[in-house]
Amino acid sequence: MKKTQISFELSIFETPEELSQNDQKLLSEAETARDNAYSPYSNFQVGAAVLLENGEIVHGNNQENASYPSGLCAERVAVFYAGAKFPGVPIKAIAISASSKKDVTKTPAAPCGNCRQAIIEYEQKQKSPIPILFRGKVGPIYKCASMADILPLAFSSSFLGDS
Ligand code: THU
Repeated sequence: MKKTQISFELSIFETPEELSQNDQKLLSEAETARDNAYSPYSNFQVGAAVLLENGEIVHGNNQENASYPSGLCAERVAVFYAGAKFPGVPIKAIAISASSKKDVTKTPAAPCGNCRQAIIEYEQKQKSPIPILFRGKVGPIYKCASMADILPLAFSSSFLGDS
């Protein structure tokens, strides 16, 4: 039996001013997207901003539904919209901002497992890492260099057989 450690580097920024200009802008776009979330059931608002290689920034936010499972997370709305509007254009970075309406979220809310899986598909397809930046409404900003960092041992199309 062998054991191995899987670890990754998380960058922690205390304020947005510590970020690069590009990351500050992307985070502020995610905050705008967050404020437009449709989340009357959870009152938890999430916004995602996707920067594409062609310079376009695409927004997504969570879209809820009275039939709860029919809703979708902000991150998937954003990457699916990017894939629909700009097919094949690689993703350079994603910023996420999340906060409850009931209580200001101060801890960075990382993307859920389903969103990680959806995003890593694009990372594998474009063969280059997608940095992910995430923050609550206030407080520190976390940044990981790649979705693979926070989804180790990911499932991919390589398991499906004919690749
Ligand atoms: N949500 C997201 O938009 N992204 C995540 O990564 C986690 C959760 C949304 C789904 C739902 O509308 C609300 O937050 C509460 O779970």
